[in-house]
Amino acid sequence: SDRMRMGPLVAAIDQGTSSTRFLVFNAKTAELLSHHQVEINQSFPKEGWVEEDPKEILQSVYECMEKTCEKLTQLNIDISNIKAIGVTNQRETTLVWDKNTGEPLYNAIVWLDLRTQSTVEGLINKTPKRDKNHLKSKTGLPISTYFSAVKLRWLLDNVTEVHEAVLSQRAMFGTVDSWLIWCLTGGKSGGVHCTDVSNASRTMLFNIHTMDWDPELCAYFDIPMEILPKVRSSSEIYGLMESGSLTGVPISGCLGDQSAALVGQMCLQDGQAKNTYGTGCFLLRNTGSKPVTSDHGLLTTVAYKMGRDQPPCYALEGSVAIAGAVVRWLKDNLGIIQSTSEIEKLASSVGTSYGCYFVPAFSGLYAPYWEPSARGIICGLTQFTNRKHLAFAALEAVCFQTREILDAMNQDSGIPLTQLQVDGGMTTNRLLMQLQADILGIPVVRPSMPETTALGVAMAAGAAEGVSVWSFDPANLTTVTSEKFEPQINLKESESRYARWKKAVKKAMNWET
Ligand code: G3P
Repeated sequence: SDRMRMGPLVAAIDQGTSSTRFLVFNAKTAELLSHHQVEINQSFPKEGWVEEDPKEILQSVYECMEKTCEKLTQLNIDISNIKAIGVTNQRETTLVWDKNTGEPLYNAIVWLDLRTQSTVEGLINKTPKRDKNHLKSKTGLPISTYFSAVKLRWLLDNVTEVHEAVLSQRAMFGTVDSWLIWCLTGGKSGGVHCTDVSNASRTMLFNIHTMDWDPELCAYFDIPMEILPKVRSSSEIYGLMESGSLTGVPISGCLGDQSAALVGQMCLQDGQAKNTYGTGCFLLRNTGSKPVTSDHGLLTTVAYKMGRDQPPCYALEGSVAIAGAVVRWLKDNLGIIQSTSEIEKLASSVGTSYGCYFVPAFSGLYAPYWEPSARGIICGLTQFTNRKHLAFAALEAVCFQTREILDAMNQDSGIPLTQLQVDGGMTTNRLLMQLQADILGIPVVRPSMPETTALGVAMAAGAAEGVSVWSFDPANLTTVTSEKFEPQINLKESESRYARWKKAVKKAMNWET
């Protein structure tokens, strides 16, 4: 029967900044069989603050899961074929909840949030040489508003409920992966409190060499270690689904979304790289078993650890805070487009920004600058400029930011990338893809199956010890189609545009002085 031919399936929960998805793959062919997606509301209670509701996040996961199961049933696919579930997530976003009631004690503070800017500046000023890289040798990260430790510090200092829960030993800290796994495996009645190494490496409390929470780092940020989740590998059975249509199915994969995309793009060898265009934009280059330290503003991060007894794999990462978020801003804040997909048509209709440059430094600037006080600017305006040029400049900004990351990556590794593998929501925008190839001067390659993040964590979940159903051979990838965008404009033209972009960035960094 059809059911027999279907074989084992593996599911993925992809909980991103802007939306949640649940996707089901065939473990033999890696074919995406069905999925469902729900948008996530963000709140901006004060300037620079970004929060999400932990319960809404959890509800969205259940909703996507149930809807996908219904769709599979309609396709005559037996959901009992789902043998494992992986969790991949927006990273760094910080939550604290009460383990007795199961209730969140505050909203999730989203990675983009800037409320800790003064804390961060204070910490940097206190280091011997006012050095933002003071903790880099252990963490691979600069001191920044981006990572979880400072957000958790803020919660401990400013939210009475959190402070009290710590004193009475009821507090649990976690990034979104931990929150979801704890809830899905039973919550207050026996949920598993864990995270994986890739997510842990984004907290600033994790030592990427010892591969564990670091007591000195915890003391530095004054974080009580008993509230931290247990750190596990990215591929092992953490626990079983406790309710819903998939009750009893093991949760056996956990990866930060950028790590998952690296895996899903099959960048499993030293030197392979991918760039994912989501809310932000993240270029990761696999550096194998060695953590490589950047001299050009990139992060050293744990990419994954595929099983308890496997060695960790590291990556160099260039993080850009605002990519898809700039399109959402044009829609929600300026109202110049009604839906995010409209931007392509609008920008294509002019095909140039006419000298307008838009630096969307809404959350300061991340790599390679790590400047929390930077703010967005639009410059080069004339009477002639209209919303079309602004739309074009916004897309160009995403490409220029990627160019800066790629330059840093090439300088750090000494071996320039000869093409860039890309994925993520924005890559359906063909204009963006062509602009990106033009601005980088190398081909940009987009896989035909865009859900690489979910695929990556499905692979981790399906390959876990005790599950072992994932039998897709990457050699079959030759049959998977991808599309290549070749650079079309001459190098001189793109270099002069890039030089002007860099001038605009300088202004975004010093606009107050
Ligand atoms: O570090 C933040 C990152 O994990 C968020 O990814 O896809 O939601 O922009 P995304």
